[in-house]
Amino acid sequence: MTTVPMTHPERLAYIETFGCQMNERDSEIMGQLLAGRAYGQTSDLASADVVVVNTCSIRGKAEQKAYSLLGRLRRLKKNKPSLVVAVTGCVAQQEGQKLIDRMPYVDLVVGPQHIYRLPELVAEAAAGRRVAVAQSDTFVIPPFLPDIESGSTYKRFVTIMQGCNNFCTYCVVPFTRGREISRDFADILAEVTHLAENGIREVTLIGQNVNSYGLDHPRESRKTFPELLRAVSAVEGLSRIRFTTSNPKDLSEELMACFAELPKLCSHFHLPVQSGANPVLKRMNRRYTIETYLDKVAGLRKARPEVALTTDIIVGFPGETEADFAATMELIETVRYHSAFSFKYSDRPHARSSGFPDKVAEEEKSARLALLQKRLQEITEERNREYEGAVLEVMVESDAANRDGQWAGRSSSNHVVNFTGQGVYAPGQLVTVHIDTACAHSLRGRLVDEYVVR
Ligand code: 5AD
Ligand code: SF4
Repeated sequence: MTTVPMTHPERLAYIETFGCQMNERDSEIMGQLLAGRAYGQTSDLASADVVVVNTCSIRGKAEQKAYSLLGRLRRLKKNKPSLVVAVTGCVAQQEGQKLIDRMPYVDLVVGPQHIYRLPELVAEAAAGRRVAVAQSDTFVIPPFLPDIESGSTYKRFVTIMQGCNNFCTYCVVPFTRGREISRDFADILAEVTHLAENGIREVTLIGQNVNSYGLDHPRESRKTFPELLRAVSAVEGLSRIRFTTSNPKDLSEELMACFAELPKLCSHFHLPVQSGANPVLKRMNRRYTIETYLDKVAGLRKARPEVALTTDIIVGFPGETEADFAATMELIETVRYHSAFSFKYSDRPHARSSGFPDKVAEEEKSARLALLQKRLQEITEERNREYEGAVLEVMVESDAANRDGQWAGRSSSNHVVNFTGQGVYAPGQLVTVHIDTACAHSLRGRLVDEYVVR
């Protein structure tokens, strides 16, 4: 994070973000709301008047990161008692008042639904009132127009829903983000239009479970996720649309059809599988089988043959046998993911699997994860080599200060593409790149054509 210039910031806020894109977007919103109260942003903890720790609780490790920053803040606050410390995000929701009770140096605990009240709560905390605010079932995501002046000049996240109703047995999200709440269709379009009118070229529609967008709205006025994609795709000025995250069980034929119909929809689908073994999927309450998952993969590839698939995998879920793990290893050979995130299973508060028997030993989890990650990385490199000799449309990401004709961008398939080009290119501009070499985590090539979309 860099210091955001403000004409005369009266005070400074330091915002630290852990976790997913939902949190990243929430941090931007909080930064914008605080800027409205004359708080500039700083990347220097020591000069901050307010520190916001936007936390994630998805795995034990993520939660630990937040606590270690809070440990540092405790010492900081000793020397600067006026400092306001706010804990937001998923740990805030999960722990609530307990954080206030246990940590005397924490002033505010604000669950994800209440970020819009942050400035008013900060003012209260500065006046000495420590508070914890958590979830309500009647919450409505308010209309909110993003600030154009701060943040990326060419790509943005747009929150379309939050929460989750799936209750996968390992997952803390239904308890931290609550039940699914979809944003108003017109509000989303207004936000996307505002972004496009101000030069943004790519939007990523985000939510914990975007495929269920709209299902919580009254049937008469309900718009589905594919309908939303079509409407966003019709917004003038945008050149790329992405979305995340989806549960495979809700990947409909209609959504697959969008990949055939909508050229702005990027050729990338993140489709978390979690395990390659049906008995494990059942205990995870994923509500699909490997057979139906593979059918969906085939359908998606039929609609858009060049789609790059990525996934999330958990190893060592309670009761996972050697044979179950072998099924996961087999699955990755079948699908051949372009890339994947993989994790050791971790018990989470409230999650049902925390009470399941037959926990897998830590060393066994580590051994399985190492085997899995080695093969996943090899497959990623094999996949990357398939692009050698291909010509890809790339959105420029590096800024014009770049020297020596070296540029960076991203393909529709979400690969980082480093390329040489002798001109000057603007972030957000689309260019055509011939791929010469595949690297471990990126592609490398040279520009063959440039075209400006603006
Ligand atoms: N333990 C390990 N990994 C988890 N994930 C979610 N909950 C857990 C847990 N309790 C992983 C899943 C999910 C990703 C965001 O984090 O793979 O898709
Ligand atoms: Fe972390 Fe999940 Fe919360 Fe995102 S929604 S911050 S991944 S716990």
